[in-house]
Amino acid sequence: MLEKLSQLREEISQALQSPTPEAIENLRVKMLGKKGEITSVLKGLGALEPNERKSAGQAANELRDWAQEQIDTAKVQAQGVLQAQALTTEHIDITLPGKRRGIGRLHPLTQVYGKLEELFISLGFDIVEGPHIETVYHNFDALNTPESHPSRDVTDTFYFNDDYLLRCHTSPMQVRLMEKQKPPIRVVVPGKVFRRDEIDATHTPVFHQMEGLVIDKNIHMGDLRGIMELIASHIFGANMKIRLRPSFFPFTEPSAEVDITCYACNGKTRQDPCRVCKGSGWVELWGCGMVHPKVLENCGIDPAVYSGYAFGLGVDRITSALYGITDPRFYFENDVQFLKQF
Ligand code: PHE
Repeated sequence: MLEKLSQLREEISQALQSPTPEAIENLRVKMLGKKGEITSVLKGLGALEPNERKSAGQAANELRDWAQEQIDTAKVQAQGVLQAQALTTEHIDITLPGKRRGIGRLHPLTQVYGKLEELFISLGFDIVEGPHIETVYHNFDALNTPESHPSRDVTDTFYFNDDYLLRCHTSPMQVRLMEKQKPPIRVVVPGKVFRRDEIDATHTPVFHQMEGLVIDKNIHMGDLRGIMELIASHIFGANMKIRLRPSFFPFTEPSAEVDITCYACNGKTRQDPCRVCKGSGWVELWGCGMVHPKVLENCGIDPAVYSGYAFGLGVDRITSALYGITDPRFYFENDVQFLKQF
């Protein structure tokens, strides 16, 4: 028995001279596995004479511990050799330039919203947002818009059913604000609006507005004009000329469109019509007017005491005018080549 043990010891020493990790594992199974040689020696101890069993048992246990230790050490060493080899063959060239990650920036529309908000905050306006899904009442009826008005048509507005729609302007927030809050009111409402327009060079079914509403005692048309000029000079610089052109909205009286000097031709090419202003020399940017007395009444505000003005800035158009962008589709395409210019 003792002789067998010293044979096994010799065999293990031999096998571990300069082994591969697989050879070590094979040796472990051969010696210490369930049916391994050392394991079966240990199992066979019970069959020995009691006087022989003690010394053989001791020697076999000692061999098992020794073998386990030799194998563990050899494994660690073999791993180290492999790693050292990998380090010389699989090295990484850390001097290669990395891939630069571009830093994003604000979308041009977001930048213009930011500029507008900066102005209105400085003038003491509140900024609030409203729901995209509106009631027909807030979007049309309360705004004095009769059933016959073309904007109410199913071909112009996205209806969910008879009572709900996607707002086609930010003006319903005028009503929500006046229903909730008594004057003085001084607020702007940035947000998306939706219309059933085919996509082309001047229309997108989603676009961006910023509604403004001021209600107080003694508010008049001159206040409106002054604010319209402030907006234009804040965005386009002090030299930008605006004009208020008489217009019609059911919820304002009188109403006006705010035009600026054409940014493409500078108002000069009336002989050779310009693509942007069609030769008029002016570009329409947004609508405005004095809040209609009926709208004040609909919201429980006495038009004999209070008056006010409202405006609905076309943020896409303002942004196009500011940066000379000739097609609103660019705003929605998320083309980095376009976006990184602003
Ligand atoms: N809601 C109008 C539009 O979308 C713009 C507007 C707002 C006009 C406020 C007057 C007053 O065309």
